[in-house]
Amino acid sequence: MSSFPKAAVAIALAVTTNWALAQSAGKYPGVGRAATPAEVAKWDIDVRPDFKGLPAGSGSVTEGQKVWETKCASCHGVFGESNEVFNPLIGGVSADDIQTGHVAKLRDPSYPGRTTLMKLATLSTLWDYIHRAMPWTQPKSLTVPEVYSVTAFLLNLSGIVPDDFTLSNQNIADVQQRMPNRNGMTTRHALWPGPEFGGPAEPDTHNTACMKNCAPAPKVVSFLPDFALNANGNLAQQNRLVGAQRGLDTSRPTARRGPSPHPPPK
Ligand code: HEC
Repeated sequence: MSSFPKAAVAIALAVTTNWALAQSAGKYPGVGRAATPAEVAKWDIDVRPDFKGLPAGSGSVTEGQKVWETKCASCHGVFGESNEVFNPLIGGVSADDIQTGHVAKLRDPSYPGRTTLMKLATLSTLWDYIHRAMPWTQPKSLTVPEVYSVTAFLLNLSGIVPDDFTLSNQNIADVQQRMPNRNGMTTRHALWPGPEFGGPAEPDTHNTACMKNCAPAPKVVSFLPDFALNANGNLAQQNRLVGAQRGLDTSRPTARRGPSPHPPPK
């Protein structure tokens, strides 16, 4: 056996600091190192349904409107109603839903769309997603107070919290109890025959990563044939409507939040 690898390892060890040396004494000595606690903390940002992992902080609806209008509305619409980049975020939930925890329109086949707030069962998911993924073009650029405030604003647009509300790590669990679809999550369906069907408490699919002799990459051999392409009309021209959107109550001038973009002529 050549002595080259041993020599290389010896040199690598010689130039390695004591700390990294201690870290690298694993399966592949000298290769890589364990992540530092500070590095792990940067990645470990998930917020769980019981709000474990949620950073302390707060933000008001009013502040959230400013964040929304400067950083979000261009894509999602002033009221979260736009279906330009994605399904509308806002719309389709009622005061009744806040009482029952079930969004009635999800069971109404005539209702033309499904918004984020209709489907969302856990408020932690909304907070976490905005924190890690939005704005689309600058993920992770929002401060913790900005995430609280813009989340509060979306909750306000959905009638879940009042105009003067400040969302915080102290009261977020109470707001969870008002989420319109909080009772809408179930495993009682064929996709995941969970405990309700006498099935296991885990998904019924298991995967093992293939590391050798793996199947070749799949080759696509059939496409949607031309005659079927337009079977449901031109998809490009179809909008995912969600019905009437609630705007500002203009019968109450004090309802306006922030300065008017169109001041009256002098
Ligand atoms: C440049 C366009 C753009 C901007 C700006 C933007 N978003 Fe998004 N947003 C998207 C797109 C695209 C998706 C869908 C992403 C996907 O599904 O992978 C999305 C998804 C979301 C979702 C998830 C909806 C769901 O049901 O999964 C939320 C919540 C959201 N955005 C909130 C925000 C907030 C809050 C801001 C401002 C801080 C923001 N977005 C700014 C483009 C944008």
